[in-house]
Amino acid sequence: MPLFITFEGGEGSGKSTQAELLYQRLLKLAIPAVLTCEPGGTPFGKRLGHWLKWGDAKKITPITELLLFNAARAQSVAEIIIPGLKDGKTVISDRYADSTTVYQGYGRGLDLEMVTGINQAATQGLKPHLTVLLKLPVADGLKRKKAGKPDRFEQEELAFHRRVSEGYAKLAASEPERWLVVDATRSKEEIAGIIWQKVSQLLSKGLK
Ligand code: TMP
Repeated sequence: MPLFITFEGGEGSGKSTQAELLYQRLLKLAIPAVLTCEPGGTPFGKRLGHWLKWGDAKKITPITELLLFNAARAQSVAEIIIPGLKDGKTVISDRYADSTTVYQGYGRGLDLEMVTGINQAATQGLKPHLTVLLKLPVADGLKRKKAGKPDRFEQEELAFHRRVSEGYAKLAASEPERWLVVDATRSKEEIAGIIWQKVSQLLSKGLK
């Protein structure tokens, strides 16, 4: 079974950079790989993602967020992730179902059982072998993002981002064998090294 790896983290944690670095490293070693992201990994998801990030902040309800992020996910799982794994490729996704658990569950306060049930439907029960959490103090992450115009999530109050961060900590503690928690204040190269150590271990165990 090929490896399915997801990257998670709050705003400005550097997870997209690390997902890309890992993907490039695999390709250099001639290990077939696919890099995708949520919600924008498919053309449909890209459109939903744009609306979710830039739509009218007051009109979009938490349930709408839950359903639309999962609609994007269902397409990504069916169009990219499952076919990639079936082709024997290592699949890397920048965000996956854990993002919905923490942002819509812990952040927005939706019932966690309901969130888990809908995530389960969208993912067809497919779980990552490894989830990398880039852990950064909330204020540092938001500061890193300050340069551009903030989207609906970046505009949220600090307390929302704190709940997201606490949600990630709880998920990671509840399934330590799946999560690799990395201190995102370290240098880009150090972080990539820590992630590679774990991924190469899994690859050599035969999860290719
Ligand atoms: P980013 O990954 O490009 O930062 O943007 C995605 C934004 O959408 C980010 O603020 C987190 C949010 N999000 C959710 O709230 N729920 C989800 O399920 C996903 C995938 C993202």
